[in-house]
Amino acid sequence: MDFHRIGVLLGGLSAEREVSLRSGRAVAEGLARSGFEVVEIDAGRDLAAKLHCARVDAVYIALHGRMGEDGTVQGLLEVMGLPYTGSGVLASALCMDKIVARNVLAAHGVPVAPGWSPKGEDDDVAPQELSLPVVVKPSDEGSSVGVTIVREPAHWKPALTLAFGCSRRVIVEKFIEGTELTVAVLDGEPLGTLEIEPHAAFYDYDAKYAPGGSTHHVPARIGEARTARALELAQKAFAAACCKGAARVDMIAPRSESEDLVVLEINTVPGMTQRSLLPEIAAAAGLGFDELVTRIVRCASTKTRV
Ligand SMILES: Nc1ncnc2c1ncn2[C@@H]1O[C@H](COP(=O)(O)OP(=O)(O)O)[C@@H](O)[C@H]1O
Ligand SMILES: [Mg+2]
Repeated sequence: MDFHRIGVLLGGLSAEREVSLRSGRAVAEGLARSGFEVVEIDAGRDLAAKLHCARVDAVYIALHGRMGEDGTVQGLLEVMGLPYTGSGVLASALCMDKIVARNVLAAHGVPVAPGWSPKGEDDDVAPQELSLPVVVKPSDEGSSVGVTIVREPAHWKPALTLAFGCSRRVIVEKFIEGTELTVAVLDGEPLGTLEIEPHAAFYDYDAKYAPGGSTHHVPARIGEARTARALELAQKAFAAACCKGAARVDMIAPRSESEDLVVLEINTVPGMTQRSLLPEIAAAAGLGFDELVTRIVRCASTKTRV
């Protein structure tokens, strides 16, 4: 579609607000350099009123986490009849919920880490019965917020308390030792792989966003066969969750070469700062930042037929 005036949604109400402000500003600059008229809109409780006043042709969603990446804002935009970037209501909500997403992926033959969902903080598995290490995560947060790797029984309870403090639902997964990588997908086509070598004990918030927190390798150093498998799984995961536009599929390649890759999650609004992973993969595939955001916005649409 031929959109001219674009509203970039940034900031918002989630724990990932700061990252979203950075993503949104980078996107807005890229779109402006590409000749679009850009309006930056901080997506608070008054979003509907702001959108009504902004008179935009389409919306670029640069919101991470709840109330932005999870289908809620997508639903508002459907009701308003405003074309928007990326996945629709269903895929956004599905991918935001790690428990549901794991079930859907597994049903489509995409390998996920073995895991289970404790019902509450007191739904206690005796630590000695746990096969440690495990990863405890809130079901619907991002950017490693509330995530703990539990290596010793004493850390199990505090990890549950932290995760349940962030979300009503929590997922516990077997910790998969190996190489962490991510695959960028654009309109259903995988663009390439990127390996994250964290300098911290795991890929936490600081390792993700602080300069020098991790080293990136593009493509991931996992050999030809595993690279082909990573691209295949990313495409499969994207399709299984009904994603659209740009997405990033996080995975781990287990240390033992004989074990298959494991998909951790699909990010339906991946980070879009200049040092973010998806733009880095796109650049290596010959797609510069401004071209990338232009392509994403040109595919903006409403997804519900009325
Ligand atoms: N099963 C797992 N095995 C090993 N590391 C994991 C596992 N699950 C999560 N992690 C680590 O925690 C980080 C955050 O987990 P992830 O599922 O991607 O959630 P989010 O990025 O939404 O917080 C990952 O990037 C990875 O470093
Ligand atoms: Mg992740």
